[in-house]
Amino acid sequence: MATERTLSIIKPDATRRNLTGKINAKFEEAGLRIVAQKRIQLTMDQAGKFYEVHKDRPFYGELCEFMASAPVVVQVLEGESAIAKNREVMGATNPADAADGTIRKDFALSVGENSVHGSDAPETAAQEIAFFFSGLELVG
Ligand code: PPS
Repeated sequence: MATERTLSIIKPDATRRNLTGKINAKFEEAGLRIVAQKRIQLTMDQAGKFYEVHKDRPFYGELCEFMASAPVVVQVLEGESAIAKNREVMGATNPADAADGTIRKDFALSVGENSVHGSDAPETAAQEIAFFFSGLELVG
């Protein structure tokens, strides 16, 4: 198993409800280390660029508006198989399908307002980390 890094976003539904600490505790309990973290307010343009891969999907506009509706916490998580481990801790995209004890089961409101985003593969993790962080901001 290799040490990996993955990009995580704590979404507006969760920052609004003051859930950052509870969500971070789930990452840390799973053995993921938060090696970079910042709270930012995305513009519609920035949200649109980040989710460009979904631009042809019917929910694209709604997703971008939601992500720009309140601050988000962007973070880099590091650990053994961090990409898969983070997706396990997050749970299924739709909270109705998420396993017990996962972030989305415990906190998500809907398939759109689902509290967290996590990279899905090594290539996307590298791109998504570079979207938000410079090398100087990653402190392992
Ligand atoms: S996945 O995990 O990428 O296969 O999930 P997917 O269903 O393709 O969803 C991709 C992202 O779009 C969000 N989403 C939605 N937002 C608003 N409304 C609706 N109906 C909706 N359906 C999906 C979903 O939360 C995923 O966001 P991220 O940030 O990538 O997890």
